[in-house]
Amino acid sequence: MKKSQSLLILIALFVSLFVSCNQQSNSGGDQKMNAFIDDLMGKMTLDEKLGQLNLPASGDIITGAGSNNNIVDKIKEGKVGGLFNIKSAEKIRAVQQIAVEQSRLKIPLLFGMDVIHGYQTVFPIPLGLSCSWDMAAIEKSARIAAQEASADGICWTFSPMVDIARDPRWGRVSEGSGEDAYLGSQIAKAMVKGYQGDDLSQNNTILACVKHFALYGAAEAGRDYNTTDMSRIRMYNEYLPPYLAAVDAGVGTVMASFNEIDGIPATGNKWLLTDLLRNQWKFNGFVVTDYTGIAEMTAHGMGDLKQVSGLALNAGVDMDMVSDGLLTTLEESLKEGKVSQQAIDQACRRILEAKYKLGLFDDPYRYCDVNRAKNEVFTPENRQAAREIAAQSLVLLKNDKQVLPIQNKKTIALVGPLADNAENMPGTWSVAADFSRSVSLLQGLKNAVGSTANILYAKGTNVVSDPDLDARISIFGKPTKWDKRSQKEMIAEAVAAARKADVVVAAVGESAEMTGEAACRTDITLPENQKELLEALLATGKPLVMVLFTGRPLAIVWEKANVPAILNVWFAGSEAGDAIADVLFGKVNPSGKLTMTFPQNVGQVPIFYSHKNTGRPLPEGKWFQKFRSNYLDVSNDPLYPFGYGLSYTSFDYKNLKLSSTELNSTGELKVSVDVTNSGNYDGAEVVQLYTQDLVGSVTRPVKELKGFQKVFLKKGETRSVEFTLAEKDLRFYNSDLKFVSEPGDFKVFVGTSSANTLESGFVLK
Ligand code: NOJ
Repeated sequence: MKKSQSLLILIALFVSLFVSCNQQSNSGGDQKMNAFIDDLMGKMTLDEKLGQLNLPASGDIITGAGSNNNIVDKIKEGKVGGLFNIKSAEKIRAVQQIAVEQSRLKIPLLFGMDVIHGYQTVFPIPLGLSCSWDMAAIEKSARIAAQEASADGICWTFSPMVDIARDPRWGRVSEGSGEDAYLGSQIAKAMVKGYQGDDLSQNNTILACVKHFALYGAAEAGRDYNTTDMSRIRMYNEYLPPYLAAVDAGVGTVMASFNEIDGIPATGNKWLLTDLLRNQWKFNGFVVTDYTGIAEMTAHGMGDLKQVSGLALNAGVDMDMVSDGLLTTLEESLKEGKVSQQAIDQACRRILEAKYKLGLFDDPYRYCDVNRAKNEVFTPENRQAAREIAAQSLVLLKNDKQVLPIQNKKTIALVGPLADNAENMPGTWSVAADFSRSVSLLQGLKNAVGSTANILYAKGTNVVSDPDLDARISIFGKPTKWDKRSQKEMIAEAVAAARKADVVVAAVGESAEMTGEAACRTDITLPENQKELLEALLATGKPLVMVLFTGRPLAIVWEKANVPAILNVWFAGSEAGDAIADVLFGKVNPSGKLTMTFPQNVGQVPIFYSHKNTGRPLPEGKWFQKFRSNYLDVSNDPLYPFGYGLSYTSFDYKNLKLSSTELNSTGELKVSVDVTNSGNYDGAEVVQLYTQDLVGSVTRPVKELKGFQKVFLKKGETRSVEFTLAEKDLRFYNSDLKFVSEPGDFKVFVGTSSANTLESGFVLK
C-alpha cells in the first residue's frame, strides 16, 4: 500500500469515528453513558424504541386494582417513555414499579409536570415574578419548585415558558416574562439554573423544558394557538434570545410550540428544530411536542397522522406528547422509506440519555421518597420564601396623597369579588397547589391586623356580570363564587361597609381563569360591573385603594384617572394574601416594575417600549399631528410604560457619567449614576440602563434594555450605581442575520423606567 493510500484510509477512519461518535451522542463524550445506552439499545425492538418516544396523557392512570387499563398495558409492553401531570410520590412510585418490574427491558419512565411557578408552594405567576427584576429570587423560586416537585415524584418540568409577548389579549402573557428579550433571557437562565442546579442526578434537581419553541407569544390577534408570521430579523433580535439563553444555560429539553412559523407548524419545522436549534445553537437534549402537537398538524393541513408523524420526526421531534403518532405510525413509514432507522434511534437515544443523566437507571425511585414528600413540600420556610418573593412582584401603579401604606386605621372595609377567594390566589398553572391552603386577601388582612383593627368584608359585585362568561372562567377548580344577589344589593352592602371604614380596599380585576391557556380577551378593561362598584365606593369620599388582580396588562384608564391608589398584585401565589397585606401595611415597600407595557386601549396593541421609529415620528411634546405616525383618538403613549413602578419612597437620579465618550471593540465603558432615596421609607429600586443605536445598516429600536440592578437604599442614602458596557453588548442581527455591532453614535439612558431616564451618549469606534 502506498503511503498516500494509507494516509487516506487513516483520515477516513478518523472521520468515520468522529461522525459516529457525534451521531451516537451529543453529550460531550460521556463514554460510560454511551456504552450503557449502546448496550440497552442493542437489546431494544423497534416497538420498544418507539415506546420511548411516547408521552401519553396520564389522566386515566389507575394503579393497583385498576392496573389493567390501557396505559398500564402499554407501560408493560414498553410502549411508554414517560407520563405527566400525575401528582404524588406514592402514585408515581407505583407506576414506575410497573415499568421497571413488568416491562421486558425495565426502562424507567420520566415523570413530567407543569411546575410553572412553584409546586405546592406557589410563587407569583411568571409575569408577576418577572416584575421583581430579582434574578436571585427568581432562581430561588425555581429551586424551591424543583425541591418540592422532586420530593413528590417529579423529575421533569415543562418550564420555563419564555415566549416574548406584546399582545395582552393573549391569555398566556401571564405565563411568561413580558415583552423584553434581554430581561427574558436573564430570567430564562435563572429558571433553568434553579430547576436543574449543577447536577441533574441529584434527587432534588429536575430537568427543565424551555417552551414554547418558538414565537408562540406572537399569535395573530392575541388569539391562542393562532398563526404567527414574522421576519427573520425580528425573530432573531426580539423573540429568539430567551430560548437561546435557556439552551446556553444547559436546558435539558425543549418543547415545540403549537403555532406555525413560515407556513410550517413548529412541530414539523426542520429549519427550527434542527437547523437552528441543533446545528446553530448546539442543543443536545431532547425535543418534546406540546399536547397533541403532532396530531394537530392534520388540522393545520399538513396531512394525516402518519404523514405528520414522519414530518415531526424528520424535523427533529424526539418525544410525542399525547398524539400517539410516533408510536403507531413510524413502523410503516420506516418500511416505506419515509423515515430512517437512524432518526428513530437518534430520538430514542436522546430520551434514554435524559433518563441516564437524571440517574433513573441507577435508581428509578430516586424522586419517589415518600418521606421527602411529607417533609419537604409546602414547608413553613418555603412558604415564607414565597411570601417574600410575592411581595417583590407587586407593582404600585399609583399612590396619590400617600394613601398607602395603610397606617393607624381602626376600621378597614375590604370589598370586591376577589377579596375572599383563596382558590384564585395561585393563578393559572398551579397544577400541584392545594387551593384550600392558599391565603386569601381577607385572611391576609386579618392576619396582619390581628386585634388592632376591624375588617369589614363585603363582596360588592361578581367578577363578571354575565353568568355564561362566569361559567367559562371557572372550569378548573378556581371558582368565582357567583353570588346570586342583584348588583344593586351587593353594591349597597359594600357601600355601607365603606361608610363605616377609615379606608377602603377594593379587590378587583380578573379571576385566575380569565388568563392563561385558552383565556384570551378582546376587551382588556375591568368588567363594567366592577367599575360600577368602584364608582359607588369613590362616591363615599373614603380613601380608596384598588388591589388589582390580573394576569395581563389591563387598560385601566378610568381607574388611573379616578382611584387614588392602585396596587397591581397579579396572582401572587399560595401566600398572596399575606404578601399583599405586607405591602398594604408597609411592612414591605413595593419595588416591582412592569415588564409589559400597559396600553390605553386594546387598539394600541401591540405596544412595547423597544419599538422602531417610523419615517414620520411625532415631534417631541405633541400627541397628534397630521401625516405623522399616530392615532386620531388617543396618543401613542402607553398607560404605564415598561419598567414602571412606584415605591412608598422616592428615588432621585443625578450625575449620569460615562467613563469615556468612546468605546472601542476591546474596551469597556463604565456608566454610573447617583441614586438617592429621597423619601421617608427604606426601599429597593430597579435601576435600568437602555441604549439606542442611532444609525445602523438596519433600523434599530428607540431604546433597548442592556442592564439593570436592583439596589436597596435606606432613606436618605445615596449610592453610585455602575454598569459596564462592552462592544458585545451592542451587537444585533443584521440583514444577513450576522450578529454584529456597527461603529457610530449611541445614546445611553439610565433611569427608573423606560420612559423616565437621564441621557448621555458615546461613540462606538
Ligand atoms: C399545553 C401547554 O401549551 C403547555 O404549556 C403544557 O406544558 C402542556 N399542555 C402540558 O400540560
